[in-house]
Amino acid sequence: MSRISRRDLLCSGLVLSASSLVAHSAWGRTASLLAKYPGAASAEALAAVAPREQLLFDFDWKFQFGHGTDPARDLGFGTGQGDFAKTGDFAFSKAKFDDSKWRTLNLPHDWAVELPFVRDEEQNSHGYKPLGRRYPETSVGWYRREFEIPSSDQGRRISVEFDGAFRSVLVFVNGCFVGRNDNGYAPFRFDLTDFLSYGAKNYIVLRVDASFGDGWFYEGAGLYRHAWLTKSDALHLGQWESTVRSALSGSSALLSLATVVQNEGTQSESARVKWLILDAAGSTVATAEAAPQSITEDGSASFTATAKLVHPALWSVDAPNLYSAIVTVEAGGKPRDAERISFGVRTAVFDADKGFSLNGKPLKIQGTCNHQDHAGVGAAVPDRLQWFRLGVVKEMGGNAVRTSHNMPTPEWVEACDRMGMMMMCETRQMSSSPEGLAQLEVMVKRYRNSPSIILWSVGNEEWVLQDAEAEQGAKIAATMVRRCHELDPTRVVSAAVNGDNKKGVSEAFDIIGFNYNLKYPDNFHKQHPKLPLYGSETASAVSTRGVYSTDPLRNTINAYDTTNPGWGEQAEEWWKFYGTREWEAGGFAWTGFDYRGEPTPYGWPSISSQFGIVDTCGFPKDTFFYYKAWWGEEPVLHLFPHWNFEGREGDEIPVWVYSNQDEVELFVNGKSQGSQKVPRLGHIEWKVRYEPGVIEARGSKAGKVVLTEKRETTGPAVAIRLTADRTEINADGEDVAILKVEALDKQGRPVPTASNLIDFKVSGVGALIGVGNGDPNCQESDKGSKRSLFNGLAQVIVQSTKSAGEISIEAAKKGSDGPALTPAKLVIVTRKVDLRPAVG
Ligand code: GAL
Repeated sequence: MSRISRRDLLCSGLVLSASSLVAHSAWGRTASLLAKYPGAASAEALAAVAPREQLLFDFDWKFQFGHGTDPARDLGFGTGQGDFAKTGDFAFSKAKFDDSKWRTLNLPHDWAVELPFVRDEEQNSHGYKPLGRRYPETSVGWYRREFEIPSSDQGRRISVEFDGAFRSVLVFVNGCFVGRNDNGYAPFRFDLTDFLSYGAKNYIVLRVDASFGDGWFYEGAGLYRHAWLTKSDALHLGQWESTVRSALSGSSALLSLATVVQNEGTQSESARVKWLILDAAGSTVATAEAAPQSITEDGSASFTATAKLVHPALWSVDAPNLYSAIVTVEAGGKPRDAERISFGVRTAVFDADKGFSLNGKPLKIQGTCNHQDHAGVGAAVPDRLQWFRLGVVKEMGGNAVRTSHNMPTPEWVEACDRMGMMMMCETRQMSSSPEGLAQLEVMVKRYRNSPSIILWSVGNEEWVLQDAEAEQGAKIAATMVRRCHELDPTRVVSAAVNGDNKKGVSEAFDIIGFNYNLKYPDNFHKQHPKLPLYGSETASAVSTRGVYSTDPLRNTINAYDTTNPGWGEQAEEWWKFYGTREWEAGGFAWTGFDYRGEPTPYGWPSISSQFGIVDTCGFPKDTFFYYKAWWGEEPVLHLFPHWNFEGREGDEIPVWVYSNQDEVELFVNGKSQGSQKVPRLGHIEWKVRYEPGVIEARGSKAGKVVLTEKRETTGPAVAIRLTADRTEINADGEDVAILKVEALDKQGRPVPTASNLIDFKVSGVGALIGVGNGDPNCQESDKGSKRSLFNGLAQVIVQSTKSAGEISIEAAKKGSDGPALTPAKLVIVTRKVDLRPAVG
């Protein structure tokens, strides 16, 4: 990365340096997002021309549960049958309505994570939360917010935008119904211009109904992504219409630039469009302009141009170079609207013989599938936490993620672009119905400029459409693929198929993904030598972090990579398959992170899955190091298990090492247990009689010891340790610090088996927004102020307010249930860095 802005540091987790402050821009979201990019100069370039404002609409909402069946407990909504009879009649979105008893909260908000767990097998795959039609009292939520619109906004177009909500939403403004949205993942937007009071207070109300689900995994409930208020000129760029496509030729790239201008004004306008192409440092490297066109009132026009980039810095996983295009529409001699498009120049090719290549170089896709929830916060994941999650995957050597099984947040895509993480971007509903196509269209239009996305996925495991109703499937998929190609001719389209891919949906795809089923790809490749193949979903190996013997009574699975359900494979199995066939593009392991729901192979009291390579907090399981050894570049030597097996003296314990060194020698209390060569893409193992003390592995390359690692039998826990991913964060009410909580013995060594219940006290300019410990069987509240350590670890997530100052986090374990531990205290400093402009 050539130049790093203050916001980069925040997002990437590096420490802040007081000298690199990025000035706060008054130009709204787009401009302030720019400040996050290398080269705040492009923010200035945009601010100079753009009268558009995009204001964060996340703060100070009021919330109250409604009711799924009883109108009396649902603000009276649905009492008679005349709810939608007269426009302007919805009392709950008018000034007089009393919401003083409603709870105040900020978005993103997931009310599902706040609910207790219920022992109801119907809810097993959704994380045992009381949601759905059988839980009417906890399945409907009302959100209400007051906001001011100045009289100077008269004549502008004003829209409200939600990046996604779970799930069915009705939106009312100032007594008027303005629209609905009926899926859990696609963004939606409503033009409020006609409904607003100018120079006055306005009221927006949303009824969010999570009675129906979209998937078979935990999905959250409520306004769990960001909300925005956008103000623009009546002559403006169409939403997600600006595209930048590049074609490399020799040492240059030809850029094809396109956009659509809409005229929502009352008179015809003669509009011209200009493009300014900036490099990462903010220097102008190319310009382009399209000839003026006249656009009638309520009309629109497409504009195109080309530009040339000489010696472009290519985007790759190692060097995620980005460019910006500032697109400006001018009319009447002045700029009327502008936006910034971030893009990268790269080639991404799937080949039937050579697999995948990026910029002409073969690159195996080392991918993981991920759902979007995290410990403590559920589906309402702060931006920084999304970066953190991707950082964990990157640290393991992962170079790609699949957003299973739904379109991701904009922050996730932005983080992939900026961190150099490739992406298979998947829509939720496989259907060519208007709703299915609308979801797909939004996904492709919104993200088609992102260099990280290397393929679109139109679905996952549609059993009926791939087998019983294959003809129907082929047609539905063909329509979806066609739509993707129309909107984005630069990428291939596929889906994750669990089967032989012989008929149905697969007939429509450009490239073929296999979920599991290692028995199919070899034959398929022989029979279809022209079709590129990849593993759309693999593994589903299960393990519990820090557990070394499977115990069905405790719902735990040993962490040795020995267990997978009948349909899955162990890490070593699938990667030996995909990692050794030149024609395979690579694959996506199920899953990077554990997630709520799908507690395979157990049920209650397990509330989350055990498929993750890391747990729900992002703490690595041992398999993480298998991938790190064979996916990464660095020397790796990982020795496990821990060496705290009190009471098992004399028992035989398997000791494993993951390493990419040539040979490893193991010592138990100084005695050699022999040296073993490391098999490629494998692991090595000793059987050792347990005696307390220390085990040590020495890894050598070309006969020289390069790495050593020890596991020592620790004493009991006596103290707590807190460490944070960052000790300085942004005082913007959104940024978070992610704290690791450990218990140490007298010698300061982390105790890997500690399970103490720790109390947390957070004071100062911040709040505790979630706790977790990665235990798939722990039913303690994510929102409580205490948490047990699970195998020595817990996580605390603390969020800033908008005031600069200090957040103090104290962790204590008093003596009432076992010995007290020496408490720990950590201070996080919050500074105002690039506060995103928000609606006041
Ligand atoms: C797959 C499915 C995933 C998840 C996984 C668990 O078949 O696509 O969503 O359910 O199984 O192994």
